[in-house]
Amino acid sequence: MMKERIEELLAQIDGLKCKNAKEVEEARVKLLGKKGEITGLFEEFRTFSPDLKKEFGRKINELKQAALAKIDQLREQTAVEAASEGPREDLSMPGTPFSLGSRHPVSIVRQEIVDIFRKFGYDVAEGPEIEDDYHVFEALNFPLNHPARDMQDTFFVSVGHPNPLLLRTHTSSVQVRAMETMKLPIRVICPGRVFRNEAISARAHCIFHQVEGLYIDENVTFADLKQAILLFAREMFGPDTAIRMRPSYFPFTEPSSEVDVSCNICKGKGCNICKGTGWLEIMGCGMVDPNVLEASGIDSKKYSGFAFGMGLERIAMLKWQVNDLRHYFENDLRFLSEFNTAIEV
Ligand code: DAH
Repeated sequence: MMKERIEELLAQIDGLKCKNAKEVEEARVKLLGKKGEITGLFEEFRTFSPDLKKEFGRKINELKQAALAKIDQLREQTAVEAASEGPREDLSMPGTPFSLGSRHPVSIVRQEIVDIFRKFGYDVAEGPEIEDDYHVFEALNFPLNHPARDMQDTFFVSVGHPNPLLLRTHTSSVQVRAMETMKLPIRVICPGRVFRNEAISARAHCIFHQVEGLYIDENVTFADLKQAILLFAREMFGPDTAIRMRPSYFPFTEPSSEVDVSCNICKGKGCNICKGTGWLEIMGCGMVDPNVLEASGIDSKKYSGFAFGMGLERIAMLKWQVNDLRHYFENDLRFLSEFNTAIEV
């Protein structure tokens, strides 16, 4: 009988299944507890004759070991299952949002302008923001005490003669540096920050950005200038854009002109952005004055060229119809994030 009981219990242990720790403990008590079945067999075993003890001693011990191993295995298994049960993440919940930065509208416009002129074969040139009087004025045909200097209220860094340091008032200074250092023919586009002592308002700031362009070669004419600006305007403001040139004056160009583009908001009918005229002013330009070429050592009999300059904030204001220049300097995220879609990855 002992033999059958042992075999029966071994089979039972082998097939034992428990759903949780409580059931494992119950199974343990039933088999190995004080009143457990295996404990009972051991008590019976104690009364056996030495012969019988010899016959069953090993078997009954193996039964106990099998029970202990099974209980251990079930304990571990139910613990793992319990740990993985707990409340799960709701995978349908929206993720934690994180915001991408965006490029500043002035940077976007600068990049667009540079890309357009790169296609026309222009290189990018840069110069110092703290410049000397010579590169900002003198070499550009603004002699000392010339009244045209008054057009650009200047922040001086050092005073004194003959060549004080100042914050450049326009990027035209970079065309002088290009003429001094580059080999002819020259085709450059010069983006940069400029400074003027202006009261801050919706239309003016003491720091702003310009792009200067310069092309010098043999036989460059006003027709080339007109064509370059027309192509630029159509790339920048759309293929239907028209340009208009009005005579103007700059000391460094002769003749000089101001350029308007047709208002792409009202299509020329007149609106409050173009102040009812149908035209928007975008830049100054002209044929480089022979005095300017000669000042930088270029033979004005052999070479001619054109130059143009425009304000980036102004172009950005027209492009996005922003009516207050100060928005570009305040870095208010509500304003800047409107340009999120313009990110290039
Ligand atoms: N430097 C001028 C300004 O800041 C802009 C300008 C006008 C640049 C005519 C030019 C030019 O190169 O030809 O107002």
